[in-house]
Amino acid sequence: MTEPERPDKILVLDFGSQYAHLIARRIRELNVYSELVPPDIPPSRIQASKPKGLILSGSPASVYKPGAPLCSPEIFKLGIPILGICYGLHLIAQAFGGSVKPAGKREYGKIELYIDDHSDLFEGVESPTICWMSHGDVAELPGEFEVLAHTANTPMAAVRHRKLKIYGVQFHPEVAHTQRGLEILRNFAYKICGCKPTWTMKAFIEEAVESIRRTVPPGERVLCALSGGVDSTTAALLASKALGERLLCVFVNNGLLREGEPEQVLETVKRFGLNLVYVDASERFLSRLRGVADPEEKRRIIGEEFVKVFSEVAEKYGPFQWLLQGTLYPDVIESARTGSPASRIKTHHNVAGLPSWMKFKLLEPLRYLYKDEVRKVARLLGLPEEIAERHPFPGPGLAARIIGEVTAEKLRICREASRIVEEELKKAGLYGEVWQAFAVVGDDKAVGVMGDERSHGYMVTIRVVESMDGMTANWKKLPYEVLERMSSRITNEVRNVTWVNYAISNKPPSTIEPC
Ligand code: XMP
Repeated sequence: MTEPERPDKILVLDFGSQYAHLIARRIRELNVYSELVPPDIPPSRIQASKPKGLILSGSPASVYKPGAPLCSPEIFKLGIPILGICYGLHLIAQAFGGSVKPAGKREYGKIELYIDDHSDLFEGVESPTICWMSHGDVAELPGEFEVLAHTANTPMAAVRHRKLKIYGVQFHPEVAHTQRGLEILRNFAYKICGCKPTWTMKAFIEEAVESIRRTVPPGERVLCALSGGVDSTTAALLASKALGERLLCVFVNNGLLREGEPEQVLETVKRFGLNLVYVDASERFLSRLRGVADPEEKRRIIGEEFVKVFSEVAEKYGPFQWLLQGTLYPDVIESARTGSPASRIKTHHNVAGLPSWMKFKLLEPLRYLYKDEVRKVARLLGLPEEIAERHPFPGPGLAARIIGEVTAEKLRICREASRIVEEELKKAGLYGEVWQAFAVVGDDKAVGVMGDERSHGYMVTIRVVESMDGMTANWKKLPYEVLERMSSRITNEVRNVTWVNYAISNKPPSTIEPC
């Protein structure tokens, strides 16, 4: 897939800061396309990509230490406006003969920034304003640079080259704690780089459909494993607009889906006229899982069975030359960072272990999008809100939430209790605020009282977490009333449950799914 060509773009040279993605996302919020590139990208490649501006990200490294990631000094001669952020500012200082040293006093946290020059980068930003600092080094720039802002400890908190469009800031405008950060980035993108705000999801859809048409030659066909999640459904809709019947979606019901899920997916598929093969393989999956308690073994069996079902469909309806995947931008960057092409096919899409006869070319129309952008595309394509805002759901389905053997009874409890958790969260208006929310059931039982009777039923654990990307997560501090409603509904409405717990473990050391 070709990258989006038309919109004005700003490249972010990624020196390894945890905030590098955030810079690109903020620029995109301004409707300007932005992409992360490796720090040592050759200047010729930058020129070929025709960006309107460059941003040098922060980094955990120090520019003066061996092994620090560097950029070509030639990039400062390209005539493209540059903004260096933190470590990026230090690189500018180094390139222009200034100095970078450990700060006498480390600045960390929210700091008052005094603006000395309001003419371009800080236009419309009042002084002082709060900015977010996180640095152990400070830069001193030579006389070719002038100071735009300072803090109590950092005299050169923002600088501008006197002749070239080269700017540097010691603080992080991309972080929400910098009060006027987005305006500062807006000034850079619009005023200094001259970008026009044309990167919209509407424009993306037109471009993506056109690009799929160009990429898949006439006569070739595309296969898609549709999970019903927002990524695969959105990818399928885009591909279907471009290819019609040449796209075949396969939806496998593994018997481990949530309540009402197969029906909802089938209804959506019907509404949008997608070409679909539905395989109800519940029995196959559940019978293979019988008696299996080990979490890794359960995952292995589910993955293996999925590949079998998928291959059977491919063989029956084939040949297919392409596999459609809902890969997103963070995965693309992660694969590039780790240098592992194997991670291109995400294991949790369950198509990692496809047999060798199935040699597909990959079609990844969402590979330049962040999740929030995919949700916007989904809405623009008319997908219902339940799909557009849906939480991620693991490939092994409810088997990841049933501790020990997957039995019919535990599956029923997990399904019904999960539905209640999601319903109550939606009612409280909190669904969109959390990463995932579900119920877990294992083999533990507890005594309860029902009327005058003592009963012995299952324990259910509610898990609700906040997360940016699933790599780390914090348990959500839900209001007690919401937890209470979930708990009493679960014990009242779900047969054979006597006890409800709330999981208060963060990731790490826990994982999000219990198995
Ligand atoms: P853990 O449990 O490892 O999960 O903290 C992190 C995120 O990944 C999801 N997850 C999966 N997704 N197939 C998937 O599609 C899987 O096998 C799988 N395992 C975990 C999990 O839901 C969470 O969002």
